[in-house]
Amino acid sequence: MGNIRYTSSGESHGKALTGIIEGIPAGLSLTSDDIDRDLKRRQKGYGRGGRMKIESDRAEILSGVRWGKTLGSPISLLIENRDWKNWTEGMSVYEQYENSIGPVTRARPGHADLNGAIKYNQKDIRNILERSSARETAMRVAIGATVKRFLSEFGIKIGSYIIEIGNQGTEISGPDKDGRDFLKSFKVAEGSPVRCPDEKASKKMMKLIDTAKAEGYSLGGVFEVFATGLPIGIGSHVQWDRRLDGKLAQALMSIQAVKGVEIGGGFGMAQRPGFRVMDEIYYKKGRGFFRKTNNAGGVEGGMTNGMPLILRAAMKPIPTQRNPLKSVDIVTKRSIRAAYERSDVCAVPAAGVIGEAMAALVLADAFLEKFGGDSMEETKRNYDAYMDYVKEF
Ligand SMILES: Cc1cc2nc3c(=O)[nH]c(=O)nc-3n(C[C@H](O)[C@H](O)[C@H](O)COP(=O)(O)O)c2cc1C
Repeated sequence: MGNIRYTSSGESHGKALTGIIEGIPAGLSLTSDDIDRDLKRRQKGYGRGGRMKIESDRAEILSGVRWGKTLGSPISLLIENRDWKNWTEGMSVYEQYENSIGPVTRARPGHADLNGAIKYNQKDIRNILERSSARETAMRVAIGATVKRFLSEFGIKIGSYIIEIGNQGTEISGPDKDGRDFLKSFKVAEGSPVRCPDEKASKKMMKLIDTAKAEGYSLGGVFEVFATGLPIGIGSHVQWDRRLDGKLAQALMSIQAVKGVEIGGGFGMAQRPGFRVMDEIYYKKGRGFFRKTNNAGGVEGGMTNGMPLILRAAMKPIPTQRNPLKSVDIVTKRSIRAAYERSDVCAVPAAGVIGEAMAALVLADAFLEKFGGDSMEETKRNYDAYMDYVKEF
């Protein structure tokens, strides 16, 4: 990413998360309400652990905005960790509190615990897990909300929903079903405790989560992220690191516990003959070029093709289980059961919201690469001129 730069800091039980995003043009209306809405969505979801009841995330905008409008300068955000009051000594930055809580020495399989402790030469796994935890994704969602606000000025809408939890899927997904009403599915999903647009499947998913909770294991699943209203030509075919599909895959794969990413027909396309995969091209006066199918998921040759963007990500089950797995104590080297700290049973609904943020960051970056502009007015001028040109092509 070069047009949008973003970084964050903060430990899971530290005082706060901080984030900086640079590259949003001047003159965009932005309030903390725009951000808090998505923070709230990230915290919901059937299957989340106790922490979500403690935390009620809110973002404070510290800089980059004046009188409700962006300045074009770096926007910095702060999200306090509500749990901090219980960790003021255990997570203090001051040496005087060293050893005020005992070390974590039981590595959890499926986590950064063991590799991180070895790599960073730490005998207290807390020094690793505090940052490897998905708590940092609250800031990704906050930053994502700012770029979603930007993209919405150009009619680009981004959403997500859950299409699988454990072995329970839904009929609603399917990239080749063109004409799918993404926004309607999104709206229905927002009312579902598991963020699934299929009411019957929602209930079955909740049952699966109840069973997993009662029996002490965790569940994964698949979420779908979509973006509508994208113009043709975001991204590029000319260099490997400018291909939009590659950037989106990396962004989604960077979410904790995501182990597979698909675009459009994804893995399923490998099994079908070519004539069932390519989206044939049509032309009508007034409408221009169009497709009747969308197996490509909105990207061909590393560029948007004007169809809705469809991404899917597979999340593995949460590594921490109430029935802990076998592991080894990193200090005594004895076989033990992995540490159990209050944990989610299933976090796929939340991961979908994080997926929206990550997709939005990539899209905003590529959008600004094409349309540039230091102010919203300049960006809009560039965008409008291109859209007029496309209409004439
Ligand atoms: C929204 C979200 C919530 C998560 N909650 C937990 C949790 O409560 N307990 C846990 O052990 N892992 C949780 N995870 C998964 C771990 O963060 C992740 O598996 C771990 O950092 C190791 O990274 P990896 O699975 O990508 O290798 C969560 C992930 C996400 C995206």
